[in-house]
Amino acid sequence: MKETVLLGDLKDWRFTLDLEGIAWAVFDREGESANSLGRRPLEELMRIVGRVEEGARIGDVLGLVIMSGKEKGFIVGADIREFEQLTTEQAVVEAVAPVNAMLDRIERMPVPVIAAVHGVCVGGGLELILACHYRIATRDESTKVGFPEVKLGIFPGFNGTARSIRQAGPLAAMEAMLTGRMISASFAKRMGLVDQLVDSAGTLHWAARKAVQSKRKSSPAPHSKAMLAKWPARSFIAGKMREETSKKAREEHYPAPFRLIDLFERHGGSYEAMKAHETASFAPLMVSDTSRNLRRVFRLSEQLKAQAPKGLKWKPMRVHVIGAGTMGADIAGWCVASGMEVTLQDLSPEVIAKGIKAQGRLFSKRFKTKALRDAANARLIADPQGDGLTHADVIIEAIVERLDIKQNLFKDVEAKAKPDAVLATNTSSLQIEEIARLMQDPARLIGIHFFNPVAQMPLVEVIRGEGTHETDVEKGAAFVTAIGKFPLIAKSVPGFLVNRVLAPYMMSALARVDRGEDMQKIDEAARTFGMPMGPVELADTVGLDVCAHVGKILGLEAQGQGGRLERLVSSGRLGKKTGEGFYVWKDGKAEKKVETYGSSELERLGRELVEPLISEAQKALDEGVVANADLVDAGVIFGTGFAPFRGGPLHYKAAHGGGPSSGSEARAAAE
Ligand code: NAI
Repeated sequence: MKETVLLGDLKDWRFTLDLEGIAWAVFDREGESANSLGRRPLEELMRIVGRVEEGARIGDVLGLVIMSGKEKGFIVGADIREFEQLTTEQAVVEAVAPVNAMLDRIERMPVPVIAAVHGVCVGGGLELILACHYRIATRDESTKVGFPEVKLGIFPGFNGTARSIRQAGPLAAMEAMLTGRMISASFAKRMGLVDQLVDSAGTLHWAARKAVQSKRKSSPAPHSKAMLAKWPARSFIAGKMREETSKKAREEHYPAPFRLIDLFERHGGSYEAMKAHETASFAPLMVSDTSRNLRRVFRLSEQLKAQAPKGLKWKPMRVHVIGAGTMGADIAGWCVASGMEVTLQDLSPEVIAKGIKAQGRLFSKRFKTKALRDAANARLIADPQGDGLTHADVIIEAIVERLDIKQNLFKDVEAKAKPDAVLATNTSSLQIEEIARLMQDPARLIGIHFFNPVAQMPLVEVIRGEGTHETDVEKGAAFVTAIGKFPLIAKSVPGFLVNRVLAPYMMSALARVDRGEDMQKIDEAARTFGMPMGPVELADTVGLDVCAHVGKILGLEAQGQGGRLERLVSSGRLGKKTGEGFYVWKDGKAEKKVETYGSSELERLGRELVEPLISEAQKALDEGVVANADLVDAGVIFGTGFAPFRGGPLHYKAAHGGGPSSGSEARAAAE
């Protein structure tokens, strides 16, 4: 029997003291599906810590166990929503100090403090357990630790930098903090972040009790690892880390990893010094535009997911894909990797076989055991006759882009499909209403528009035609969420949202090339702005035939006419896929000359290059292509890779007064 100890009115924690003198602090944040370390739960934890200190002094508490009361998940980190209240560095310092003081009190507790982890434990959650004396985790697939802070433009700020280095050594700890990757429980144990593994959540309680009774205490990283934190090894390692990090991110765009490396280089040799100096480097990052904008991107991704209705009874399990070419095969593979059963149809059985075989790479990346890979292969079924049509929950058409063929196909599909099945086309240029014209109920058809390459692109547009049933649009969004992508509900207009804003940007850049501007400089300027790839290289990667086609649909063909794009397409030089386009391609890379350009020149040009994209994004908003400005920004960031640290095109426009106002050539070219 347990005695419930009242510590005032706890809302986010349950605190009990059992008859053996073990205190159990169970984190179960009120009214929330996940535990985040917001102000109130932290204050309550401080009260718990105070009670345990007192109990240890008077002898009624022999140890403390920290657990989660949520069925799934331990602690998802600090409460990002509250970050917005911290508008000055001083406010950050004042918010962090009491938390760090509390973690120090946990660390100094005279009785054992054990963390018992089941589910995701990241960011501030990992920092909390690192202050405990001993960490037990379940071997469950869902149990993961990690420091995702860099993705929000910061690094661990609750002394996790020092404590992770102490436990795992500088190499492994810094790698975890610099990449933000999720770490399985068994790997965390090997790293030293976790001390003991148990098989299931059911045995955690028992293992934690035992750990308290036998006063288990974690050991820091072995001497061999810790030695790497000594100067000059540390300075050498810091140099290597800078080199690796700058391959992935530019310091001027994403300063957080670089500031973390600086902190490590200066103070990584001493646990106390690292702890003492962490906040001074952390606070400026917290209030930086980069971090604010990356937090915005995180919120935008939540908004996209929220487009799928909650509590829908309909659950998509079976998918039928028609067309096993470039898109169809990868869509089928992705759905299978997300746990669904997929039938794949094409006119050609050879194309189906080839498309299925090509999914092997995705499955071996996604599934670590042979049994799981075999199960995935068994869920991807070749279906040349289209037998799967009659029992599929979602039917996706990805055949040739010809209106008459698609119209006839859907007439047939509608007759065979279940009445509640979602019927969707992956068309990128035809009108949904036109494709649906021969159907009994044209309002059933929606667009589910994937981007190429399917496995890498996080966004999928869900297209609502004129008069489309809203329930089908909702089901489409629910399906997209079920396969782990972000749905963006968009109106059926040429180019939908993403291609519509991307095309003027690319075509105006190609028009610059026609006017004799240096294409390498154009691409470098776009990257300087923060685009993942320059527009000319992107055109080559997408395929110049596709670009010319999209340009035509969007009425931008005049820009390509008589120009290099037209000449390249008619001579069969289609870009990366044929080995030559604007660039010559070798081993999947565009060949470039070694050139250096002035940075202010690149910055100016970069801003000009994105102007057509930004003005088109504004037009799309004005025409209601998606519901609001945030969704425009979300769609453009996740659909085109638009510089996330700038917060989206419309956010950028608002922050910079609409960008450069000189009647630039870029704008002229776009119009
Ligand atoms: P693709 O040419 O690679 O594949 C089309 C496949 O459909 C071929 O294997 C063909 O045999 C098959 N097919 C043709 N008619 C058929 C029928 N009546 N029944 C069954 N199979 C049939 O084409 P891709 O690139 O995969 O494009 C497919 C659709 O996806 C198009 O509507 C395209 O606009 C759209 N799309 C393409 C993107 C891309 O980057 N390739 C991106 C987004 C959408």
